[in-house]
This record gives sequence, C-alpha cells and structure tokens, in this order.
Amino acid sequence: MSTKLRYLTAGESHGQALVAILEGIPSGLRLKREDIDRQLKRRQMGYGRGGRMQIEKDKVQILSGVRRGETIGSPITLLIYNLDWDNWKEVMSVDEPAKESFSSFTRPRPGHADLTGGIKYGFYDLRNVLERASARETAVRVSVGAVCRRLLEEFNISIFSRVIQIGEEKDESSWESAVTNYQIIENSPVRCADPLIEKRMIEIIDRAKENGDTLGGIFEIIVKGLPPGLGSYIQWDLKLDARLAFVIMSIQAVVGVEVGIGFKAASQPGSKVQDEIAYSKEKGFYRLTNRAGGIEGGMSTGEPLILRAAMKPISTLGKPLRSVDIVTKKEVKAGKERSDVCVVPAASVIGEAVVAIEIAKAMREKFGGDSLDEMKRNYSSYLNYLRER
Ligand SMILES: Cc1cc2nc3c(=O)[nH]c(=O)nc-3n(C[C@H](O)[C@H](O)[C@H](O)COP(=O)(O)O)c2cc1C
Repeated sequence: MSTKLRYLTAGESHGQALVAILEGIPSGLRLKREDIDRQLKRRQMGYGRGGRMQIEKDKVQILSGVRRGETIGSPITLLIYNLDWDNWKEVMSVDEPAKESFSSFTRPRPGHADLTGGIKYGFYDLRNVLERASARETAVRVSVGAVCRRLLEEFNISIFSRVIQIGEEKDESSWESAVTNYQIIENSPVRCADPLIEKRMIEIIDRAKENGDTLGGIFEIIVKGLPPGLGSYIQWDLKLDARLAFVIMSIQAVVGVEVGIGFKAASQPGSKVQDEIAYSKEKGFYRLTNRAGGIEGGMSTGEPLILRAAMKPISTLGKPLRSVDIVTKKEVKAGKERSDVCVVPAASVIGEAVVAIEIAKAMREKFGGDSLDEMKRNYSSYLNYLRER
C-alpha cells in the first residue's frame, strides 16, 4: 500500500555515510536537493555545538524515487556522506584489520548508551554502541523530514520551532509571538527572539563549557494549517498525541514531551483548562482558546499544534564523571569524545523533522492517493465537506 508512509535509517556516526529509505510519498511532488540541504544546514547550526559540526557540511544525495525534479512514487533513498570518515577509516573499517592499532572505548559515559548497550550486545569496545546511539543519525532523519515537509507545504501546513529554555534561562513569551518573530528566531544562534535572553543563554553555555560541563533545556514546536481529524481515538496506537510524543522521545537526550499547556493542566481546574467551542460561518467550528495544543481525543482539532520537549544535558563532559572500566573493573573517569556542550537549538530543528514525518504519515492515512493530484482532490473534498457541515 503506497499510502503507508514508513522509513528506516542506517549508518554509524563515523562510518562512511548515513542512509534512509522513505516509502509512501505520492508521485508528482516537486523535490529539489536544496529543499533537503536547507534543513540539514539548519540542524548544523546552534550555539554550543562541538568540533564535529565544523568538519561536516551535510549535503544529501538522492539515489532513487525522484526523476527530473519530481517524486515518482517509488521508495526514495537519501544518502549523506560523513566527511569525518576520512579520519576514521581504519577504526571504522568494515574489513577485519591486519593489526589492532587503536585502543578500544572501555570507559562508559554516565547518561549515554555505552554501558547498557555493551552489556546487551556483548561488546568490549563500546564504540560499537556509541557510533549508532549518537545523534549523528538525526542528520538523515532531518532529510526524511525535509521530504515530508515538502509534501505538507502542498497542503499549506507549516512547522516552526524555537528554544524556550536553556539550563535555568527561560523565554516565557507566547508561541504566537514566536511565529510573528520567526525570522529573528531563525537568525538567533540559540533560536530565541529576545536579545536579552539570547545573550544570557549564550553566557551560560560559555560558562558550562569553561567548567567542563553541559546543559539541557526545552524546545517548542508549532504546527499551523492542520485540518481537523488527523489521528484517531479508536485505537491506542492511532492517537496523534501518543504518536507525536513517541517520535519526539525518540530524539536522543529528550526526556519529556508536553502537548498544549501540558503539565500545567494538572494544577488547574477544568474551567481554566478546557477550550470552549464556538462557531462562525467563515471559520466553522473553532475553539476560543488553545490550551489543548491542537489535539483532543488523539485527533487534530484544526487549532495550531503546540508541543514542547525537555532535553537532558549532553552526557560527554569536558570534566568527565566517575565510571568503571568495563575490562579492568577499576574506577576511572568516563571516556571523552569530541562533543557538544548544548544542543537544544539543533534538537528543535530535529523535532520539526520528526513531527513533519508523523504529520505526513497521518495525512497519507487520511487522504491517501497514489499521486499528489489524487491526494489533493481527496483533501479538497474533505474541506468542502467541512464547509458544508
Ligand atoms: C543534536 C544532538 C547532538 C548530540 N550531541 C551529543 C554529543 O556531542 N555528545 C554526547 O555525549 N551526547 C550528545 N547527544 C545526546 C546523546 O546522543 C544521547 O544522550 C545518547 O545517545 C543516549 O541516549 P538518551 O539520552 O536518549 O538516553 C546529542 C543529542 C542530540 C539531539
């Protein structure tokens, strides 16, 4: 069934390349490499990144599924070469080495996948774990997200993101103001529109770096233009809020997800939480507020989607924490890799991508169609139905 959108990624952080195969995009969607490269560039930005992002200049290669600038309905293969591979050819060689000329990674970092992954897969070189657990994988997920985003653009669905907290520094402005000031956010190294808060965020990232420490934070995703009725209440795994929480939690280092006012709803009475319903000829049914963040009963309501994700601080520290060597069993300082200090701005761009993929999936389920034209016909007949109800 070509309307079922699915994808897989492969590739190690310092391997030759990252790959994804994406199936379920209808034929006839105009797609340029630049559409994808633009999103890859946004992912690479952000204050607090480490040396790796200076080495990589991510660019996608499209190996299948697109011909003469348009999708043809077949699986789309996306490939991104790792430029750092040049420095890792021997360590990451696919072939059995003639001699062991490098040392294994045996000092697991608290907070990373190293220790449990090593135990689970039977490794004494934890590089086998960290290479795939690494968020380098999200580069190719962002490229899948960019294709899905192109599809959503055809339906006037737009996705925004910003950073609302780094460490203790918070931006408490409304999501509406974020959309209004989006150009400023796009140009901000911490994806924050307020210059004073931006400055303080940069300062605490610098301080964390000087102290050999790292910082987490919170990012927010806003989606505008969704029709009502994506996702469903009829089965647990069809609920849109659950599906979005899953994909956002799958981003490395994300530890929590909120929809709408989220955890704040727990402390408020119902009268301050539920969004009252109204009707007008022009708008049809709508809500007077949007505390639900655009989802009720596992379905999009048609109001903007508001999601937030909390990230823990990066686990590779400049001043490493205590650990135990997995071979000698002696107390040691955790291993170090070239590492980021704070990645909340980059994670917000990754958040946009995974949300784009899940929304595209829900749009394909609801509006089907093998070609984009067919999907659009189905969509506009739904919009007519909404107008006539
Ligand atoms: C964009 C991005 C970049 C990251 N960079 C690093 C890094 O440089 N060093 C590090 O230790 N962890 C980094 N992480 C976090 C780890 O990948 C993550 O903590 C690890 O895979 C364990 O998974 P978990 O935190 O989801 O449990 C990054 C995460 C993201 C989203």
